[in-house]
Amino acid sequence: MQTQLLPVTDAALEKAAEILREGGLVAFPTETVYGLGANALNPEAVAAIFAAKGRPADNPLIAHICDTAQLDGLVRIPDAAPALMEAFWPGPLTILMPRTSAVPDVVTAGLDTVAIRMPSHPVAQAMLRACGLPVAAPSANRSGKPSPTTAAHVLADMDGRIPLILDGGPCDVGLESTVIDVTHGAPTILRPGGVTKAMLERVLGHVEVAGSVLRPLQAGEKALSPGMRYRHYSPDGQVSLVEGDEADVVEALEILFRQAEKNGHRACVMCFSEHVEALKACRPHDIGSRDNPEEVARRLFDTLRRLDTEGMDVIFSEVVPAEGIGLAVMNRLGRAASFHTIQARDVLPA
Ligand code: TXA
Ligand code: MG
Repeated sequence: MQTQLLPVTDAALEKAAEILREGGLVAFPTETVYGLGANALNPEAVAAIFAAKGRPADNPLIAHICDTAQLDGLVRIPDAAPALMEAFWPGPLTILMPRTSAVPDVVTAGLDTVAIRMPSHPVAQAMLRACGLPVAAPSANRSGKPSPTTAAHVLADMDGRIPLILDGGPCDVGLESTVIDVTHGAPTILRPGGVTKAMLERVLGHVEVAGSVLRPLQAGEKALSPGMRYRHYSPDGQVSLVEGDEADVVEALEILFRQAEKNGHRACVMCFSEHVEALKACRPHDIGSRDNPEEVARRLFDTLRRLDTEGMDVIFSEVVPAEGIGLAVMNRLGRAASFHTIQARDVLPA
């Protein structure tokens, strides 16, 4: 199959709508990451998403809408949801809702809830309006790769597998949406993202964060969100996170880099913009300013993809505080590193 990458024009949007109505797949930009969409009400079309991504069939998808009227007949809206929808839609928040039998099993992997999101990106909105359908869409990467934040990332993973990619430029948030469960018990963040815990708490009061957000799932532990089970965001190389005081971390990164190179590895560091100069001998990959965690979020997946294209096999990374958008950054970075962490102090000479 020939994959077309088109700039966004009325004709391109009409073409996307036609492909979706006929049961085909379209990759499109959202404010978080690029999605790989299909008509959520057509089980064969949705099954094609799983095939194109190489995604395990038991990992459910998010249904994207542009108008809350599209929810009629598909879901029961949980009591806490209207206030969330009012505050954060359109935007990077996905809300679980009990579903009706009108939602195909293949979308929800058989679960009795369906994840719903109304994206704010103008291209996503225009495409959803043009096709008039709820669109099931996971991130448009091959399963196991970082989510795509540019059309070029999508093309690298999906060339020859899908007919159309709409190029809407780089994504603004750069990490996937926050997934929240308000269907039972305390409101719980299953996946941190662009809408932070503090933002949610201003609307809901206390919000829990699923335990596995900042650590691996333990043996026998049930994943609240099936996506948490899988190896994710993992570059081919081994990533280690380096923690400690700023000056100690910079010194430790240099020592760790030199040791790895001496041992014959192709090594690099992922560091804040402020430390690129001090670490210029260590193949620095600039993750953004230490004062700007939003920038770190925006650049993270592109940086992880570069590690693979540049053939890095040992990577040492700085970390951000796990608060605000930093919680989402550390969830993704932690998983990329299989939560392998080094204390800078343990590396420095005594
Ligand atoms: O920002 C985003 O959310 C992007 C854009 C394209 O909208 N989409 C995205 O989709 O990241 P995906 O499929 O890569 O991640 C969806 C996550 C997975 O971790 C999945 O397990 C979880 O949401 N999920 C979906 N439906 C669920 C459900 N009914 N219950 C629990 N978790 C669910
Ligand atoms: Mg994904």
